[in-house]
Amino acid sequence: MEINTIYNENCLETMSKMPSNFVDMVLTSPPYDDLREYEGYNFDFETIAKELFRIVKENGVIIWVVGDKTEYGSETGTSFKQALFFKEIGFNIHDTMIYYKNNPMPTTGKRYHQHFEYMFAFSKGSPKTFNPLKESTKYRGIANMKNRGKNGTLEYDKIERTEEKKIGNVFCYSIGGGISTKDKIAYQHPAIFPEQLAYDQIYTWTDEDDLVYDCFMGSGTTAKIAHQLKRNWLGSEISKEYVNIAQERINQYTIRSLF
Ligand SMILES: C[S@@+](CC[C@H](N)C(=O)[O-])C[C@H]1O[C@@H](n2cnc3c(N)ncnc32)[C@H](O)[C@@H]1O
Repeated sequence: MEINTIYNENCLETMSKMPSNFVDMVLTSPPYDDLREYEGYNFDFETIAKELFRIVKENGVIIWVVGDKTEYGSETGTSFKQALFFKEIGFNIHDTMIYYKNNPMPTTGKRYHQHFEYMFAFSKGSPKTFNPLKESTKYRGIANMKNRGKNGTLEYDKIERTEEKKIGNVFCYSIGGGISTKDKIAYQHPAIFPEQLAYDQIYTWTDEDDLVYDCFMGSGTTAKIAHQLKRNWLGSEISKEYVNIAQERINQYTIRSLF
């Protein structure tokens, strides 16, 4: 297969050309609950999930960015159902992370504003790579607390003087025009995820030269960031219009970088 390429076809078609245990990571955001009108919408979830299990390497990871639609007074629960299906077919639900939007579209009715989507990490065994993002520690010094002793005193396993600790699993991003990406052309697609999200996830779960696949490539966010992080990438996108957008967007970076 040609790598560093977007295939303009149903992702099932692309995956059928891949050998088993082929990609190190999948980063994707599926078209969920027919919330948006994508060109050529076609989403056979269970078959796609099983194919993903086949083509992801042992110890590889899928990051599945998804939310639920509210209809007839209830959230659909699709994201949970999908997560449980991934577990049924052999993946671990390694981590249920939150993609928190600092500035979401306001919602009406008797509900709080919808501020987040899920970012499920499904792993085939234990992840091969974990490069945690870090933040500086607020209280330097006390780490690895063991437990509370019988008389209520705290016992420490080890006391380390650390400057940094790994971050939590809620990732906060500002979104929208000029923020999710500076590439104006990307906004011709209705549902992009922020470049910083792609950067954080690809950086965390892969090493240089690994292969990252996005089965729903949309405007090409995964491809652009994988390229910038020196990872190989592959994508599928069913709509010709979106492939053209993604290609034009990516060419600005990949072609220039040849010189
Ligand atoms: C939520 S969007 C992905 C957006 C992308 N993360 C970005 O940042 O631009 C989902 C995409 O999946 C595409 N799509 C839907 N069904 C597909 C299928 N079976 N195979 C490949 N692409 C599909 C849609 O056309 C849409 O562009």
